[in-house]
Amino acid sequence: MDNKIHSTLLFSLLFFITHLANASSKDQCNQNDKKTLLKIKKSLNNPYHLASWDPKSDCCAWNSLECDDATVNRRVISLTIFSAQISGQIPPEVGDLPYLQKLVFRKITNLTGQIPHTITKLKYLRFLRLSWTNLTGPVPEFLSQLMDLAYLNLSFNYFSGSIPSSLSLLPKLEYLELSRNKLTGPIPELFRSFPGKAPDLFLSHNQLNGSIPKSLGKLDFYRIDLSHNKLKGDASMLFGTNKKTWTIDLSRNMFQFDISKVKVAKTVNLLDLNHNGITGSIPVQWTELSLQSFNVSYNRLCGPIPKGGQLQRDGAYAYLHNKCLCGAPLQRCK
Ligand SMILES: *[C@@H]1O[C@H](CO)[C@@H](O)[C@H](O)[C@H]1NC(C)=O
Ligand SMILES: *[C@@H]1O[C@H](CO)[C@@H](O)[C@H](O)[C@H]1NC(C)=O
Ligand SMILES: *[C@@H]1O[C@H](CO)[C@@H](O)[C@H](O)[C@H]1NC(C)=O
Ligand SMILES: *[C@@H]1O[C@H](CO)[C@@H](O)[C@H](O)[C@H]1NC(C)=O
Ligand SMILES: *[C@@H]1O[C@H](CO)[C@@H](O)[C@H](O)[C@H]1NC(C)=O
Repeated sequence: MDNKIHSTLLFSLLFFITHLANASSKDQCNQNDKKTLLKIKKSLNNPYHLASWDPKSDCCAWNSLECDDATVNRRVISLTIFSAQISGQIPPEVGDLPYLQKLVFRKITNLTGQIPHTITKLKYLRFLRLSWTNLTGPVPEFLSQLMDLAYLNLSFNYFSGSIPSSLSLLPKLEYLELSRNKLTGPIPELFRSFPGKAPDLFLSHNQLNGSIPKSLGKLDFYRIDLSHNKLKGDASMLFGTNKKTWTIDLSRNMFQFDISKVKVAKTVNLLDLNHNGITGSIPVQWTELSLQSFNVSYNRLCGPIPKGGQLQRDGAYAYLHNKCLCGAPLQRCK
């Protein structure tokens, strides 16, 4: 009797132990990734935000990380550090997470320095967001080596210099957001040659100057925001009924062109041209648009406002401070 209980107990114990050992070996993340992550933690001065990064535990269970479930050697595919009290620079070791597809540093005001060159080693990187940090230096040319990149967001930083035309070499780019930086110079002429479809383009709140290259007219941007810059000259090439544009914001620049013959795609939902030097009269074609948001205030427009569509909906505020616009919602034409 006693013996039987003993052996059952022993058996259960053995079962328990082997089961434990199995479970922990199955959960082990890749050891190279683990070593790299611990270097990254150290390089960021062991922040409290990464307290779960304990060498004794499975790194795939650590916060701010994601491992690939599909592979046997579970590799780290995503590193997302958001809203953390971290002082330091982006550790060059991030380049040693070779299966990384997504890299995010966001809302970390004490993250300073430049984007490290080692990032070019991440050949599967699809999503790069470094936003609301204190990064400086140029938007690096070398980002064009990330051939899988679909999403690039460097907004709300202190990047300076001009936009590298090499970004137009990225074959899969769908979103390019560089707004709220200190970028100067022109929109690169080579942006005409994006190999795929034109990415959504957000460049607002910089100090971009010069005029828009004519050749950009052959692209069909779904969303384009160039507002709050110092761009001048013609922007009419961005319009056209052959396009599928959804939003277009050119407000607060120094654009100067005649709007009278500019036809706008019927897909356009937001059209903001306020604070420029745009001349001419508002085309009757614009009454065909289903605009949710419309603003041509602070320009040099003249003539009757066409009646119909959404053009009277937002009241006089959409038309303030022009040269001689008239008709509803403004005063009747004389
Ligand atoms: C940022 O750095 C400054 C000076 O180094 C320090 O006083 C401040 O507490 C830090 N802020 C955060 C959020 O880490
Ligand atoms: C971020 O950069 C700005 C401009 O360079 C500077 O004024 C500010 O002190 C920096 N903040 C931190 C936390 O480093
Ligand atoms: C880029 O990041 C900013 C700030 O985090 C966000 O507001 C914006 O929507 C992002 N842009 C895109 C295209 O996702
Ligand atoms: C743009 O501004 C820079 C200085 O910020 C100036 O050197 C350059 O000539 C300007 N370019 C144009 C086309 O206005
Ligand atoms: C148009 O823009 C001007 C200037 O920013 C603003 O005062 C006005 O309220 C805007 N109108 C509408 C309808 O949004």
